[in-house]
Amino acid sequence: MKTKGKILRLVMVIVTLTMAYEANAQTGGEYEPTAENLAAREAFVNDRFGVFIHWGLYSMYGHGEWYQYKEDIDYREYQKGMGAFYPGEFDAESWVKFLKSCGVRYITFTTRHHEGFSMWDTKESDFKITNTPFGRDVLKELADACERYGMKLGLYYSHIDWHTPDYPVGKHGKQLGREKKPNWARYYKFMNDQLTELLTRYGRVNCIWFDGMWEHGGEPEPFDWQLDEQYKLIHRLQPACLVINNHHGAVIAGEDVQTWERDLPGENKNGHAGMDVGHLPLETATTMCDETWGYDLREYGKFRSSKELIQLLVRTAAKDANLLLNVGPRPDGKLPEEAKDRLYDIGMWLAANGETIYGTRGGTITDGEHYVSTTKGQHTYIHLIKGGLSELNFETDGKVVSITQFKSDMKIEYKQKGRQVSVKLKYPATATDYILDVQTR
Ligand code: GLC
Repeated sequence: MKTKGKILRLVMVIVTLTMAYEANAQTGGEYEPTAENLAAREAFVNDRFGVFIHWGLYSMYGHGEWYQYKEDIDYREYQKGMGAFYPGEFDAESWVKFLKSCGVRYITFTTRHHEGFSMWDTKESDFKITNTPFGRDVLKELADACERYGMKLGLYYSHIDWHTPDYPVGKHGKQLGREKKPNWARYYKFMNDQLTELLTRYGRVNCIWFDGMWEHGGEPEPFDWQLDEQYKLIHRLQPACLVINNHHGAVIAGEDVQTWERDLPGENKNGHAGMDVGHLPLETATTMCDETWGYDLREYGKFRSSKELIQLLVRTAAKDANLLLNVGPRPDGKLPEEAKDRLYDIGMWLAANGETIYGTRGGTITDGEHYVSTTKGQHTYIHLIKGGLSELNFETDGKVVSITQFKSDMKIEYKQKGRQVSVKLKYPATATDYILDVQTR
């Protein structure tokens, strides 16, 4: 299992690099975002914190969302799980209320992951949630709850499909029991008809979040996904809907946000993110454990600590990016306790310190290890996320009028000489985030 994981990761790295190259080659087109779209981008940036929900038939098997592929399971056998799909504890309202209380500003929900199972009552496929014993359109319930609680809802949609024989399997894909009879024209129409449903039946959609193009990466003849027309369809149906595509490459015309997978923009520590940082709003999607996005019972007890995740949120904001933190609901439709505990802690932290995250932009003051910064108006927030510094030196254009510990009257001593500012520090080495509020004029 471990070796398989490593090989898969290596393949993904190679694919990513090729995709980044190919995407670069595709960026020729013209795209003029509408005023609504630009406003939505600005709102998106200000939101800073979203939750990704990976929920599908795979959740029931409890081995992550790549289970079918990794174990080479024939699609006909895999789909039989439908007959037992009954997440009887699912309650959209309690999800949304809880996430809202944790300071989450938007949800991105997997409507159809690579397995091809639709989590709404689509007219375009029988492989869907309303054909299970559960029979409910969970997307509708979620969309209604989001609307009631003022939570934005974005929709993940896979370009890859492991179920329908129509999907043209790419160089890095598998047939999984399907006959080799691809029909791209029919598959493309199917996707666009599904997207039309998603964008016309579930209220305002924050984003369409695509994933999977890398499966065709590095082919001698670059695969034509006909993105231009698909992106236009989305913007025609909902001009403010943000197009996000996790292709691991440079921005392609028609996209509104650039997204990173398990990496911060400009870092590339995991091999999926070697692309240049473009001019669009940025987002980083990541998991609370290591490997999978869908529920995986093998990850029990292996979640990252709340401290680590809060610091990740801070580091992401300091990179001028949003954090889209993943949670994989259990087969019974509940959010795992471990994930809830982490989200609760993040929420508590945001309730006290959210001003230094929401609505901020990334700052330049950082040593890449002990401290990073965010800015808003005349305030620069220096986040000390690692102990051990007794002094901090930074440059600023303005005149510093005060430095305090965030939200306290405690003045912190500093000296300014021209652009150079020097601060004496005393802070607990174990602090999750000791924040300095630097005010300039
Ligand atoms: C990857 C995976 C997928 C996951 C996604 C989220 O591309 O294929 O399972 O949904 O990343 O970023």
